[in-house]
Amino acid sequence: MATLPGADPLLTDALAKTGRQVDSLFDALLPVPEDGRGRLVEAMRHAAIGGGKRLRPLLTVASAGLFGVHPHHALRAGTAIEAVHVYSLIHDDLPCMDDDDLRRGKPTVHKAFDEATAVLAGDALQALAFEILADPETSGDPFVRSELIAVLATASGVGGMAGGQMLDLVGEGQAFDLPAITRMQQLKTGALLGVALEMGAVLGKVPPEARTPLRGYARDIGLAFQIADDLIDHAGDSAAAGKAVGKDAAAGKQTFVAVLGEARAREQARMLTEQAIGHLSGHGAEADLLRAVARYIVERDR
Ligand code: IPE
Ligand code: IPE
Ligand code: MG
Ligand code: MG
Ligand code: MG
Repeated sequence: MATLPGADPLLTDALAKTGRQVDSLFDALLPVPEDGRGRLVEAMRHAAIGGGKRLRPLLTVASAGLFGVHPHHALRAGTAIEAVHVYSLIHDDLPCMDDDDLRRGKPTVHKAFDEATAVLAGDALQALAFEILADPETSGDPFVRSELIAVLATASGVGGMAGGQMLDLVGEGQAFDLPAITRMQQLKTGALLGVALEMGAVLGKVPPEARTPLRGYARDIGLAFQIADDLIDHAGDSAAAGKAVGKDAAAGKQTFVAVLGEARAREQARMLTEQAIGHLSGHGAEADLLRAVARYIVERDR
């Protein structure tokens, strides 16, 4: 796995392990039917298996680790979020959205297959996410399963990823101020990262009023994560990132880099990382993985 030279071994190992586990779970969940649907499932497998940092499942595993949750349950819940994330990437890359040919170092789904198959692969991955959460193997407690389903639905829809993607599109060529960009990014990217952390607390049956520090951490890393993504587009390397770079400004996208400039955007991301780590002050060594993730998010090149 390509991570940073000198990166925290705790994080490097956790990223590699989560990557393997998510791959093998998707492999088991996506057998290829021997009829006309085979093409659909091959497209889902192309997008879901063998790529990506798997940051959302890792966040669920790390968050669940604070509350004594069995890692198998956390991995399944995190993989459900990854399924929504992968669907969002397939649709984000379509010609009617960002029109990209490269994703995770491979051709995008509409390039490797076709546009109609890409739309359906996204649709079916979204459905798969909720099938995973509704399965008793994710939690034996039906109340926990229903809360997992509810929080992922909220984070995926109008109040989350899809709503943020709409703001991203209507913002092209407009001039957003900082609060408007922050709101867009919180929905577009922050919501799915946030629910990854929230699911650890749901699985751990942590009462909502005790989730405040985790939510503060989630808000700060969510923004830092998107600033880093914008910086990768602005100044990163396509081969390292596994996707095209240098497209946001040309498309008139509203980004933190567009509003703050590169230097202030970098400074803001660093400040958010420190603030995120500050929210974990009530925890000891059990939160070290979350601390390492916060640092990695702003230093990454992919
Ligand atoms: C990219 O997400 C899209 C955004 C939400 C900004 P990631 O940077 O997590 O992409 P993968 O999953 O590692 O490919
Ligand atoms: C996409 O944001 C976020 C999603 C919800 C998929 P971007 O369009 O900036 O993501 P990349 O740069 O293509 O990965
Ligand atoms: Mg986009
Ligand atoms: Mg894009
Ligand atoms: Mg981007």
